[in-house]
Amino acid sequence: MAFKKYLILILAVMNVASYAQTTAKLTISNDSKLTVSKYIYGQFAEHLGHGIYSGFWVDRSLPVEKQGRIRMDVVKALKKIKIPTLRWPGGCFADEYHWRDGIGPDAQRPRMVNTNWGGVTEDNSFGTHEFLELCSLLGCEPYIAANVGSGTVEEMSKWIEYVNSNSTSTVVEQRKKNGHPAPYKVTFWGIGNESWGCGGNMTPDFYADQFKRYAAFAKNYPSAPLKKIASGPNSGDYNWTEVCMKNIPANLMWGLSLHYYTVPTGNWSHKGSATSFDESEYFKTMENCLEMENLVTKHSAIMDKYDPDKKVALVVDEWGVWTDVEPGTNPGFLYQQNSLRDALIAATTLNIFNNHCDRVRAAALAQTVNVLQSLILTDKDKMLLTPTYHIFDMYQMHQDARYLPIKLNSPEYELDGKKIPAINVSASQDASGKVHISLVNLDLHNNITISANLKDIHWKTVTGQILTSVNITDINTFQQPHKLRLESFKGAKKEGIDLLVVMPAKSAVMLELE
Ligand code: AHR
Repeated sequence: MAFKKYLILILAVMNVASYAQTTAKLTISNDSKLTVSKYIYGQFAEHLGHGIYSGFWVDRSLPVEKQGRIRMDVVKALKKIKIPTLRWPGGCFADEYHWRDGIGPDAQRPRMVNTNWGGVTEDNSFGTHEFLELCSLLGCEPYIAANVGSGTVEEMSKWIEYVNSNSTSTVVEQRKKNGHPAPYKVTFWGIGNESWGCGGNMTPDFYADQFKRYAAFAKNYPSAPLKKIASGPNSGDYNWTEVCMKNIPANLMWGLSLHYYTVPTGNWSHKGSATSFDESEYFKTMENCLEMENLVTKHSAIMDKYDPDKKVALVVDEWGVWTDVEPGTNPGFLYQQNSLRDALIAATTLNIFNNHCDRVRAAALAQTVNVLQSLILTDKDKMLLTPTYHIFDMYQMHQDARYLPIKLNSPEYELDGKKIPAINVSASQDASGKVHISLVNLDLHNNITISANLKDIHWKTVTGQILTSVNITDINTFQQPHKLRLESFKGAKKEGIDLLVVMPAKSAVMLELE
């Protein structure tokens, strides 16, 4: 009898324990005037592998719809998810790029070796005009990274004049002769890239001085006030942020960049496969992905010391997962497949950025097509949308919407004695009053029930979309391009004044409340 009682007690405890592990409490409040900047959803395209060449810019003979040599299937897909910015020409490539090589008649453009990426010949057929034409087709704003490492102040300053000025000068006449009479009005300018590494191996003190010098000659032309972005820290290099914030007056820079990549194993010489990994490697990858929360929090705290009014944006203009390249591909081309794991990384990272929108006001996923964590993969005339693309599709609802603060009590996802929060969330309200809540369940096994209180937000109906799949390693291929795609989500309902959501294991969901 005593044993029976004990057994009942044990079972009751187990029940409570399993209940505690699979439920989350969420509160969403109306109390904020902050905006989730659309620029958080920016993209990055470097002269690297098949990112530009084959990705955006193709041979005239390729049987796809084209505008000049720009492939329109890729453009149309990116337009659909409203990419706000495209960063170009690098990356490391930016600090060996000389813009004058990429203007004028094709046949006269010099050829160069792309020393960073595979040692291939760069024929400069895709230059300033082609990039700006691409941005206009995409309906996005260009973000140009200027060469500080191997360039000069004069070179950068003339590039800006060439692109933005409407006065009479030799370079402006050149632009007109090259087919663009009106100034392009490009406002986003990066002053170097990774100046602590491939951009010149500088110390932060040296770079801060260089920034001030370059920034002094990066001029505003009519209707094109520049948003100058300083080359910021690598991952957790807090000293870089400290020195830049201390030495560069806040009114000289619009933003300070931060680069952080999620390397699955955490080991750069053996990063891990994009498609073949076990639960332990998945768990490690997600731990590394969640490190973004730490980085953004700590870099922001340093920025707050010198810029309490948060005038300077933290611009995470290179982020994403970086795996080993696909077997048999050029190691210098950084071509990798994209699985459900990538999608959960994107969804989680974007939730982090949204929740830090007071400081993170721009970002760029690395890199849009065929490189690292791409939105799109191409193979000659074929193209496919990756799982990451579908996350950006769902999350476009947050662009320029009003940020809604959240409080979350998430269960842990536990493996081999280590724990990470299973659920992450962000929320916003658009101009028409609709509330969007993006939720991620990182747990590979447990569905999690979320009970959400929306305090003083009024709503009547809830609909949703979900991205998930049978296996965390599932990918879209050219043979099966729609294995992962957005499906309608029926796991959310109104119960009294609360929102109840059953989040399937390994899934990302976007809810719309009206
Ligand atoms: O995105 C690939 C490379 O990663 C970029 O060129 C560089 O800035 C970073 O190290």
